[in-house]
Amino acid sequence: MKFFVDTADIKDITELAATGLLDGVTTNPSLIHKSGRKFLEVVEEICGIVDGPVSAEVVALDHETMMKEAAILRKIADNVAIKVPLTIDGLKTCKALTSDGCMVNVTLCFSANQALLAAKAGATFISPFVGRHDDNGQDGMQLIEDIRLIYDNYNFSTEVLVASIRHPIHVLQSAKIGADVATMPPAVIKSLFNHVLTEKGIAGFLADWEKTGQTIG
Ligand code: G3P
Repeated sequence: MKFFVDTADIKDITELAATGLLDGVTTNPSLIHKSGRKFLEVVEEICGIVDGPVSAEVVALDHETMMKEAAILRKIADNVAIKVPLTIDGLKTCKALTSDGCMVNVTLCFSANQALLAAKAGATFISPFVGRHDDNGQDGMQLIEDIRLIYDNYNFSTEVLVASIRHPIHVLQSAKIGADVATMPPAVIKSLFNHVLTEKGIAGFLADWEKTGQTIG
């Protein structure tokens, strides 16, 4: 499963990219607002740090203006994936962009039928929002299972990108279902490394090593 980080914070992206485990970045207008940076500038900077797909979202609601915004975003770098909302105009834009060789991430997906439409529109990624689905009293991970089943039934190449992840259990469940990508807030990625028994084990080994009076090298 690929790991994307869901942020526009350069410090977090740089730190996670240095682990060698980061496969891409997703942003959205709210994350850009949180960064306090200029949209085009921050996307360009992210693309210089991460080789994998960097999602940048259009804000227009009509196809024609979405295409104009996408043209500006595509010029930033080859690894920009244009993020479009799951609407009729968004999917028209998806079809036009992917037919032209551009990566597209279809966002704000809340049903398996929407995911089916996105795959038919040639989406590179579909982003079902599991956390917001849970918040709404529905089962976010069931949505991922349904999409996985449908995509496998028809051999769709659209990658299932689990978004709106809130905690490590969402990551574990995504991996068990066979999602292609999980995009996570930096804190969730960092939490995956931690286990109290790992910490305890290191402390015990180091205490005993000290007693040997040895050094390596
Ligand atoms: O980038 C889209 C998605 O991951 C948003 O997450 O936590 O705002 O629902 P959240």
